[in-house]
Amino acid sequence: MTVPLLEIDDVTKQFGGLRAVDNTNFTLETGKLHAIIGPNGAGKTTLFNLITGTLPTTSGRIRFLGDDITDEPVHKISQRGLARTLQIKSVFGGLTVRENLWIAARSRYGVFAPFMSWRRCRKSNERADAVCEELGLMPHADQLAANLSYGDVALLEIGLALATQPKLLLLDEPICGMGPAETEKTVAKIQDLSKRIDIVIIEHDIEVVFNIADEITVMANGGVLAKGTPDEIANDPDVRTAYLGDDDDA
Ligand SMILES: Nc1ncnc2c1ncn2[C@@H]1O[C@H](COP(=O)(O)OP(=O)(O)OP(=O)(O)O)[C@@H](O)[C@H]1O
Ligand SMILES: [Mg+2]
Repeated sequence: MTVPLLEIDDVTKQFGGLRAVDNTNFTLETGKLHAIIGPNGAGKTTLFNLITGTLPTTSGRIRFLGDDITDEPVHKISQRGLARTLQIKSVFGGLTVRENLWIAARSRYGVFAPFMSWRRCRKSNERADAVCEELGLMPHADQLAANLSYGDVALLEIGLALATQPKLLLLDEPICGMGPAETEKTVAKIQDLSKRIDIVIIEHDIEVVFNIADEITVMANGGVLAKGTPDEIANDPDVRTAYLGDDDDA
């Protein structure tokens, strides 16, 4: 039996009186493009924050490729090969695309290392260029990130995560705010990437999700309402009632 990619075991996150993630359980297998959907406030981003160590859990365990990573420091989880993008874009506008990627690649060797060997410096350069190439950002490599189009900022954001050489990439609404052409380009890149690394995408665009996901987890009120293939989710009576709207176009 293969080791699960990610195990969420009775995980709860309480903010004061609010249970943003409420005794949630699910397991994701490797080799699939996973999507998490659910209404605003369902707890999707909070769950990413718990998985990446950005927020401490209130209770429960999280395992990544069989290892218990619950409440480990962010940098340790990152070094295990787990990377994420943020719902709010976070690139350095005053640096070029290549410099942004170089910093992200270098972070793999530890932010506090005062000196970096020539070998690691060269490796970070190579990694930054490889990511630039993979995402089609090479023509913009020496451009300031502040001058990129919105779609290219979103790609760079994915690039910052990729530069850390993750095994699992968590994407939080990567196409939010994009027009149709940018959406198409970004979605195509995400599909390409999913052939070589595992991806979990939080996304509100249901059409995109149903087109690209192998498996969908539906969250509501901090818990899992349903999990299955796009077909199973589209035909799940609970999902249709609670989320998609119970009509034949859902
Ligand atoms: N740091 C925090 N402190 C207090 N409450 C929080 C915090 N982060 C999130 N919440 C609350 O937890 C609930 C879940 O929020 P979360 O951001 O996880 O939802 P989401 O599913 O990502 O929603 P959206 O689709 O709008 O991004 C919301 O009610 C939110 O207001
Ligand atoms: Mg969110």
